[in-house]
Amino acid sequence: MTATKLTGIEVCVFDAYGTLFDVSSVAGGARDALKERWQALSDLWRNKQLQYTWLRGLAGNHANFWEVTSDALNFAMASLEIDDAELKERLMSLYLSINPYPEVPAMLARLKHGGLKLAILSNGTPQMLGAAVDNSGIRGSLDAILSVESVGVFKPHPSVYEMACSHFGLSAEKICFISSNGWDAFSAKAFGFRVLWCNRFHQVPEQIPETPDGEISDLTQLPTILGVN
Ligand code: LAC
Repeated sequence: MTATKLTGIEVCVFDAYGTLFDVSSVAGGARDALKERWQALSDLWRNKQLQYTWLRGLAGNHANFWEVTSDALNFAMASLEIDDAELKERLMSLYLSINPYPEVPAMLARLKHGGLKLAILSNGTPQMLGAAVDNSGIRGSLDAILSVESVGVFKPHPSVYEMACSHFGLSAEKICFISSNGWDAFSAKAFGFRVLWCNRFHQVPEQIPETPDGEISDLTQLPTILGVN
């Protein structure tokens, strides 16, 4: 899968964690305390966090992403036999100052200058997303920050993706959705968006319906694909 130009797009909607914001920068910020276990903790934490969103969705037992993130961290720390309440608090606080991927601020400014509307659509709570956006200095480029908390269910429930259509009053094919999370990109395509999978982690394609319109390796290529100079 590669990416050819997409035309007729009016709005770009971005996934947050893993796509705009570097999840590994959270545990990475406590490398001094975690030492050689920081990457293992980071991976376990993220995987468990996503599993809990899917489990809660299936069970109809929603809790917000801050709680799910905290639960997943408890699991990850217990798995690695790290019993340190202060470190847990520190890691949760670090989630609020998560770093953007390096290309993100300039890329968003370029798309915005090119006349596209831009939004985030994420599992994150409004508070978590607001903190990440401010920490990254990208608020001025964004037209909307859409949180699943408005619908009370996590991705990939179609009502989450529908939020972007209703917010902008547009049909799904006028919206380009971009996610680094393969399952999110494939599910967003099944919903009906035009989709670019930002395959930062060189993963193999998911085996779920449907296949995104294109694949990119980071977000630097996005303006060109959308015809923005
Ligand atoms: C989000 C998760 C999927 O930001 O990364 O919605």
